[in-house]
Order: sequence, then C-alpha cells, then structure tokens
Amino acid sequence: MTTRFSRQMAKAVLPTPSSDRPVIKSLSRLRTAEAECTRCPLYKDATQVVPGEGVARARLMLVGEQPGDKEDLAGKPFVGPAGRILDRALDDAGIARDDAFVTNAVKHFKHEMRGKRRLHKRPNAHEIERCRWWIDYERAIVKPAVLVAMGATAGRSVFGRNVTINKMRGRRHRTPDGGTAFVTVHPSSLLRMPNEADKERAYRDFVADLKRAKRSLK
Ligand code: URA
Repeated sequence: MTTRFSRQMAKAVLPTPSSDRPVIKSLSRLRTAEAECTRCPLYKDATQVVPGEGVARARLMLVGEQPGDKEDLAGKPFVGPAGRILDRALDDAGIARDDAFVTNAVKHFKHEMRGKRRLHKRPNAHEIERCRWWIDYERAIVKPAVLVAMGATAGRSVFGRNVTINKMRGRRHRTPDGGTAFVTVHPSSLLRMPNEADKERAYRDFVADLKRAKRSLK
C-alpha cells in the first residue's frame, strides 16, 4: 500500500526537466538552488531562504505557510513559537519530527515593518504559485507517501486551489497530481486563540489530524 503511494507520487510530481527547469536530485543541491531564488520579490526583504528540512526518504511531509521571524533568522523551518506547538503535537501523535520532512509553501519570510518589529504578512496566490516550483522538487526528491497541509496557504500550494480547512480536514484526499494529502489547521492559529478551553480543543483536533496522517502510512 505504502509503496504504491510512493510510486504514484514520484511519477506524479517529478518536475519535467527543461532549459529553465534543471534536474536537481539531492536535498543539498536543492538548498543551493533555493538560496539563489528570485522567483518572486520576497527574497529582497528576507534574511535568507528557509528550505525544507528532514530526511530525504521521509514518508510524511508536513507543509506550513512560510518562515516566521525566528525561522528567517535561523534558516530552519518551525523553530519559533508555532514550531514549539508543532513539536508537542507531533510528540503527542507519536510522530518523530526527525522521521518527517518539514517544509513551507513559501520559502522566504514575508513581513512588514511596524516600528522595529517585523510583522508576518500572509503570502498571496502569486507568491504561493511561484514557490510551488521548490515544493515540487522537494516532493520529487523525498517522495513522501503522505503530505499534511497545515493551513490555507499550504492547502493552496498542495491542491493548487483555495481550500476550506474545516470542510476538508478529517479525511484523506488526492492531490491533483495523484498524491495523498491531509489538511489541518496551521499550528500558529492555536497561538492566537484567547480562550484556553477553545485552544485545548483545537490542539486535540490538530493532534487527531496528525494521527490520521500517521495511520494512513501503515
Ligand atoms: N510558520 C510556518 O508556516 N512555518 C514556519 O516555518 C514557521 C512558522
């Protein structure tokens, strides 16, 4: 079952080489190429690109929105407050982060200055589309059996259209290119919840979504 998913996925997402689409077969080469990215203007104001991170043969790929302030400085995905929630939820779902590949729909930090603070700005459809180029490489190299799109931006990247998280979560979906994906909330949505009981419920639902994705790997 798992092998079948992997093969389908590999066939479906392998980018077609062309004069402007070089063949990139390893994550280290991919990181080098991503560091040169000027496919949209976001690179201009970011400290650095934040490539996906994890083992090249991960069966589970977690897709977030874009690096935040901490990730932009560290060059690593999900190392700030949202990353702490993700780490705890992965732990509670029985998923070792080291066994997964953790990435973002958009690889540069989009923000605006408010005084000295850099405030997150949601990437637009054009930026998500331009950055899908890199996700396609990541998927072709890693060949995950299952993707988890965390939040609307990741959903748009993975499915190529706007998705409604609450309508899609809780079951498995096919991506347009034949992959298998689950949809859930972005962990930072929990950070914004003022009510502790709501937050706790949302956290449990998030963990349940991750467990569903894990079960489908079997
Ligand atoms: N939010 C994301 O979507 N990705 C990160 O890497 C950090 C915060």
